[in-house]
Amino acid sequence: MDATQEISRDLLAKAINESHDGVTIADAQEDGQPIIYASAGFEQMTGYAAAEVVGKSYRFLQGDDTGQPEIGIIRNALSRGEGCLVILRNYRKDGTMFWNELSISPVHNADGKLTHYIGIQKDVTARVLLEQHLHQTGLDMATLNRQLNTLVYTDPLVGISNRRRFDEEFAKFFSTAQRTHSELSVLMIDLDRFKLFNQRYGESAGDECLRIVGDCIAKSFSRSSDCAARYGGAQFSVVSFGANIEDLQRHAQQLCAKVRALSIPHGDSPHGIVTISIGGISRVPYRDTSADELIKLAEVALYDSKHRGRDQVRIVN
Ligand SMILES: Cc1cc2nc3c(=O)[nH]c(=O)nc-3n(C[C@H](O)[C@H](O)[C@H](O)COP(=O)(O)O)c2cc1C
Repeated sequence: MDATQEISRDLLAKAINESHDGVTIADAQEDGQPIIYASAGFEQMTGYAAAEVVGKSYRFLQGDDTGQPEIGIIRNALSRGEGCLVILRNYRKDGTMFWNELSISPVHNADGKLTHYIGIQKDVTARVLLEQHLHQTGLDMATLNRQLNTLVYTDPLVGISNRRRFDEEFAKFFSTAQRTHSELSVLMIDLDRFKLFNQRYGESAGDECLRIVGDCIAKSFSRSSDCAARYGGAQFSVVSFGANIEDLQRHAQQLCAKVRALSIPHGDSPHGIVTISIGGISRVPYRDTSADELIKLAEVALYDSKHRGRDQVRIVN
């Protein structure tokens, strides 16, 4: 045996011993497959020292809980000289239960004779308990994921998509538009004199106003090729595919009219009601256009429409 093989053997043994999972080897030729090796991970997981378990069958891990169908599955697999993967209840030295995800594989010598089994023990208690809890509460992982997704991508105050969703959708839309040379539209929408509204009517009225206007914006841009979101504060944003500048202009003006039609009173506005200003850009984003640039141009257009007297639309290309 040369030096490289010695080193790699040593490394292999160390690596096995360092694993957080339990790694054990059993003699396949002895009755009851006694343990001949147990790693530090196994000691840690079960509370038993390797010296205490070597020479014994693993059955001591089952305590009195020997009626589990998984034990029959292991027995059948071993009687055929095969491996198996099961999750069963096992008990630590201190008597506490843990769920053991046990993987057993047969090991053969050069003549193909079954000599050993290798067992990998993984403590999956947290996962099993979570699954049981979800089952009891009628939830499953898919539902939980959906709920989590909604939480992550929804603005908690207004109830429509949040800035995170907008940024992700915008990046997707932008690269598709670049690839397919399609027109991409971005709108920045801001409630006019919202600070004054909040000062006059209080924050909870301000929040309600944001909810009503946000809902109106989201309903106006609800196709699958649109994404309307709360961008931050009293500002909303929309990214949309396939509308030319005239369509976008018309659609944005209709949105201004819809918000006026909500007739939310605003004593500090010359119109006496809540209005919005819109800035936007519609263009095919060629290679020389960056995503940030489009957002900035839409924001500049929004400031422009504010300076021109608010309650209006300014779209550039
Ligand atoms: C390599 C290997 C690892 C094993 N690891 C465990 C274990 O971690 N926990 C356990 O409950 N049983 C384990 N077993 C299974 C038991 O040793 C035994 O095969 C099982 O209880 C079924 O046999 P029985 O009907 O004779 O009890 C392992 C078996 C082998 C071969």
